[in-house]
Amino acid sequence: MAFRVTPWEVEGDVDYQKLMKEFGVKPLTKKLLQRIKAHTGELHYMLRRGIFISHRDLNWLLDEYEKGNKFFLYTGRGPSGHTHLGHLIPWIFTKWLQDKFKAELYFQMTDDEKFLFNQKLSLKQANSFAYENALDVIALGFKPGLTKIIIDSECAGVLYPLAIKVAKRLTFSVVKAVFGFKNSTNVGSIFFTSVQAVPAFLPSVLKGKNIPCLIPHGIDQDPHFRVSRDILPKLGYYKPASIHNIFFPSLKQGNKMSASLPDTAIFTTDTPELVKRKIWNAFTGGRESIEQQRRLGGNPEICPVFKYYFFLFERDDAKLEERRQACMQGKLLCGECKQELIKRVNAFLEEHQKKRKQAKGSIKKYLFKR
Ligand code: TYM
Repeated sequence: MAFRVTPWEVEGDVDYQKLMKEFGVKPLTKKLLQRIKAHTGELHYMLRRGIFISHRDLNWLLDEYEKGNKFFLYTGRGPSGHTHLGHLIPWIFTKWLQDKFKAELYFQMTDDEKFLFNQKLSLKQANSFAYENALDVIALGFKPGLTKIIIDSECAGVLYPLAIKVAKRLTFSVVKAVFGFKNSTNVGSIFFTSVQAVPAFLPSVLKGKNIPCLIPHGIDQDPHFRVSRDILPKLGYYKPASIHNIFFPSLKQGNKMSASLPDTAIFTTDTPELVKRKIWNAFTGGRESIEQQRRLGGNPEICPVFKYYFFLFERDDAKLEERRQACMQGKLLCGECKQELIKRVNAFLEEHQKKRKQAKGSIKKYLFKR
């Protein structure tokens, strides 16, 4: 089946094995996972379950770490609206990495990108979503002293001199080939990847020495870093390493959770009633009738409701497996599975929304200042 993955659009049923080959990224092997575990003591469930699936240069990053050359983390968000559960996947994992490696995190809010790529969004709106989204980041518990949130349009004085150094090495023909830009694409969009490259070497600039960088992100963002990796060594910096997650699904069949389909995505700001309605209306891997379900069992592999448990709402592997078996054996009906999920999602959001509110008072501590 055809699929298409770009940093701005994910269409169709993604074949990750094929995509990894196409992008030229390496699978996260058991051996590499053991190498991570040697430092972290345990493996995050997203690593155990293959939610993080591939990487670039992770062995090199660990070699450096083992030599005493600590790395910093870099990730981000394009603030075009409220945060949905899919965005939380790389961030929750990044938080775990920050705790395990006591690493600094540079978090980029690309309000400039969302203004440039989205015809309907004003810069003011994108900027105000940057602040909204920052509350979600802070609510996840990142350490204030170790975390710096860069809002692009407000940090231009720092970003711009570095972005133009990248831009000078980047041709239109490269970005056209990588991102599919046309002659009608606005020039801001053509320039943009130079801006997303900057946090990957900004700490090296600020500290006056080369520091390895690890970027956890959804695999859709890889093209930006593939391009950046070719350019940064020419400027005298390390190539950033990266680790990539697969997509949290939409509540519809076979899609990525996406803000452009709001009825099939759950946002961190959703009310309990809205969550209930969205999940009740979700597609499932169930049969047409209860009788059939009892006799033939359901199909968790194609079921977004099951995947919600897999990605975020059942972190105990044995319990997840029990749920899978109960579904396949017809012991668990979709209605029951949805009802339990609604409870778990709402409990998670209640807690998250509380922390989001508290975050309003501490946002200043996190903003990057120069
Ligand atoms: P954005 O806002 O599209 O997405 C933010 C992060 O969430 C990931 N993501 C998902 N992961 C799992 N399931 C999903 N359904 C899902 N949807 C999105 C994205 O891959 C991303 O990691 N240009 C970027 C902002 C950015 C950035 C970065 C991201 C700037 N610098 C460095 C990652 C790393 C953007 O628009 O992300």
